[in-house]
Amino acid sequence: MASGAPADTPLRKTMKSGRTPEPQALVIFGATGDLTRRKLMPAVYKLFCDGLLPEHFAVVGFAREAMTEDEFRRRMREALGEFATKPGDEEWARFAPHLAYVGSVFEDPEGFLALRRRLEELDREQGTGGNRLYYLAVPPGVMELVAEQLGRAGLVCDARSDCFSRIIVEKPFGHDLESAQQLNADLHRVFDERQVFRIDHYLGKETTQNILVFRFGNVIWEPVWNRTFVDHVEITVAETVGVEQRAGYYEKAGALRDMVQSHLLQVLALVAMEPPASYDADSIRTEKVKVLRSIRPIRGEDVAHDAVRGQYAASEDGKAVGYRAEPNVDPQSRTETFAALRLWIDNWRWADVPFYVRTGKRLKKKVSEVVVRFRPAPHPILDNVEGDRPAPNALVLKIQPQEGISLFFEAKVPGMRGELRPVSMDFDYSRAFQRESPEAYQRLLLDAMVGDATLFAREDEVVAAWTLITPILEEWARTGEPEAYPAGSWGPACSDRLIGETTRAEDRGREWREP
Ligand code: BG6
Repeated sequence: MASGAPADTPLRKTMKSGRTPEPQALVIFGATGDLTRRKLMPAVYKLFCDGLLPEHFAVVGFAREAMTEDEFRRRMREALGEFATKPGDEEWARFAPHLAYVGSVFEDPEGFLALRRRLEELDREQGTGGNRLYYLAVPPGVMELVAEQLGRAGLVCDARSDCFSRIIVEKPFGHDLESAQQLNADLHRVFDERQVFRIDHYLGKETTQNILVFRFGNVIWEPVWNRTFVDHVEITVAETVGVEQRAGYYEKAGALRDMVQSHLLQVLALVAMEPPASYDADSIRTEKVKVLRSIRPIRGEDVAHDAVRGQYAASEDGKAVGYRAEPNVDPQSRTETFAALRLWIDNWRWADVPFYVRTGKRLKKKVSEVVVRFRPAPHPILDNVEGDRPAPNALVLKIQPQEGISLFFEAKVPGMRGELRPVSMDFDYSRAFQRESPEAYQRLLLDAMVGDATLFAREDEVVAAWTLITPILEEWARTGEPEAYPAGSWGPACSDRLIGETTRAEDRGREWREP
């Protein structure tokens, strides 16, 4: 390093590309499932093609179905063709030998002993060095069992040994506070917290990661990022798809569990957290959990006031069916496909600044964004020609699909009239960088392979999120039902009322930004 050059801080190190993981075997439980075909295998293959995997690696599929390794390889190649780019013969010939398969039911200890033997062979054949990364792409209820079987089969090494064992846990991480705590306890019987990587794929999105860079890599935002300047914050994660073929899971989950407990609260924590002491996993996660714990609980009667839910009905043109008419959905279902909350973060930075979060299926547009709405000018000396006050500034962090950032401010329309109009300064990822962002799963898999837990939820974060969400779920289960909204709309009318009306007179008139 040249003298005077800045030290390699953790932030700089993390941002550098070219982190090569140690030799290891990735074992995917649930290897015949949808997630493996759609996301995991394409992510592993892309990492391989980009030269980001170690030279010595193996991917072992584990699932109930009995099949040969050749058959497993054939299916994975087919999945790549369907969900990524079908590998050419030459690339495939290099990649395929790294794939292996063990078929067994999860209940059978023999299956795990077979896995152990296969992994030991791979240590010899592929040089994977006894290092293991387990990926639980299995339904809730099976996760505990797999962890227990891994422990019993001697497949988990502890922190003192020369090799490592880590476990990646897919969501849903429990279905309420109690089950999440139980799952944590079950995992901790076999793995210590530093070995557990809880996936939230929103944290793997480039634009979500950029929230930290935007806030803490620039100096101009921090002075205005607080209650003095911010009026309120909106977080929207809207989808156009319906429940698709996932009624079995979704009927028991609903939008609050499926999206708010995980993705929306994680995004909110990044927007609202204090600057961390450094850019390491624990400093960041400690700040995030402080935000989650500072959110005022919504319980009992407050639920009707601060939380609303909806369920999509058929679209107005009749092209999309309502939720209750979807395959395998109970025709009387009370499951919400839309949820919105008004949250108050009780700390010095955010006192009295409402955070509105909303998410739903079958909405008008697929879009995820954060809108920071600033306060109006304190002493407006300019009125628009019609006498309207200038619109307050707004900053929009566009997470997807048009990744970017826009800052809205008032400008004078050229001419003799004193007309003002909001204009925007726009940053667009694809234009600025001229390259594609990696898929969230690529980033997260690579991070787990190198042992970087920054973008994974820690135990206390998950507990804090469920502590907030569970009383709302309980109240919703006890009384009322979701309000219908037409598929293709922006959700139920109660969502507009939630943002539009509060007890404070100055809050009236707020509206969700139409993305
Ligand atoms: C998943 C939810 O976690 O996120 C799905 O289970 C949802 O219901 C998906 O469709 C949305 O992710 P993305 O990346 O498409 O916004």
